[in-house]
Amino acid sequence: MSLLVWNPEWDTGIALIDQQHRSLLEQVDALMTAIHDNDVDRRIPGLLAFLADYVEQHFRVEEERMEATEYAGLAGHRAIHDDMRRQVASLVERFVADSQAVNEEVLEFLTDWLIKHINGEDRRMARHLHQWAATHPRTWS
Ligand SMILES: [Fe+2]
Ligand SMILES: [Fe+2]
Repeated sequence: MSLLVWNPEWDTGIALIDQQHRSLLEQVDALMTAIHDNDVDRRIPGLLAFLADYVEQHFRVEEERMEATEYAGLAGHRAIHDDMRRQVASLVERFVADSQAVNEEVLEFLTDWLIKHINGEDRRMARHLHQWAATHPRTWS
């Protein structure tokens, strides 16, 4: 059962970033499903660890592209990522302390945050990356 479905309107038009965003949502969805199925001990630790790694990998891709294209909004965007990094780390810590602490409410918060970020800061970043790509030789595929 899928609780979260990607809306194509959330695409930025940057292939790798869109693919990672979709994958992030799928992973949050897998966590929600595991919680819904009450499969807390068997599936959630691995899913949480994977999500935390993937979030880091994704933020690095965005930050590297913002750096490479001299994006003026880099510092602000990075600060928001850092906040998310802390949220995810705290989610993992809370789960270790009490497996019931990671519930649908917590994940809904995470999802709302993610979607809001994708449609706000990520969209503004993508606009800049598209403009950059139009005026500079391709530096990535
Ligand atoms: Fe993103
Ligand atoms: Fe971002």
